[in-house]
Amino acid sequence: MRLAVLISGAGSNMVAIAQACAAGQIPAQIAVVLSDRPDAGGIGRARELGLPVAVVDRNQFRRDGRLDRAAFEAALEEPLRQHGAEVLVLAGFMTVLSPAFVERHAGRILNIHPSLLPGYPGLDTHARVLAAGERQHGATVHFVTAELDGGPLILQAAVPILAGDDLTSLSARVHAQEHIIYPMTISWLASRRLLWNGGSPTLDGVPLRAPVQHG
Ligand code: GRF
Repeated sequence: MRLAVLISGAGSNMVAIAQACAAGQIPAQIAVVLSDRPDAGGIGRARELGLPVAVVDRNQFRRDGRLDRAAFEAALEEPLRQHGAEVLVLAGFMTVLSPAFVERHAGRILNIHPSLLPGYPGLDTHARVLAAGERQHGATVHFVTAELDGGPLILQAAVPILAGDDLTSLSARVHAQEHIIYPMTISWLASRRLLWNGGSPTLDGVPLRAPVQHG
């Protein structure tokens, strides 16, 4: 299975996925790392790993201060097609994709979100759980639908929030789990253990009515 990994930032999940592919833990390969920012830290890391990189700079698609999403997404399709991407793996990709784009790739887009969804969709999750005095936080891998952070949940890992935690310590604890559960989910998908054609996804033929809990 040929993966496109879409990034906007440091790309630590992309590296974890690349390592899992190289180690044979995922029966797939990264066909392209696609960034919407030319300065994303993950671009250099992808090149060091010898992965093909494409950049579609979202700032080039601003018209009167607003993103021309249709033009931006049409430009995204080119490297995806060129590199034969079969599954799109959003790994810290910070541009919201339109319903039309998501429909075109229905069932073939994964995302990882730094919270225990359905709790805390959206941005700044680490700060928000700390401010709310939560005792638990985590990360979730889900299929992408047109609803932001709202698609069917697949796999989740919880971490405790400890006394004295700050953004740095908490996000590091969550990231460590992300680097486990994202490659694991992709391996399920690539080996066809995980399927989704609308309704509940199935894992080994069993409908996932709630996300699998890791650990
Ligand atoms: C992760 O926390 C992920 O859950 C969120 O964006 C962050 C990306 O981190 N969607 P990295 O770029 O993979 O290091």
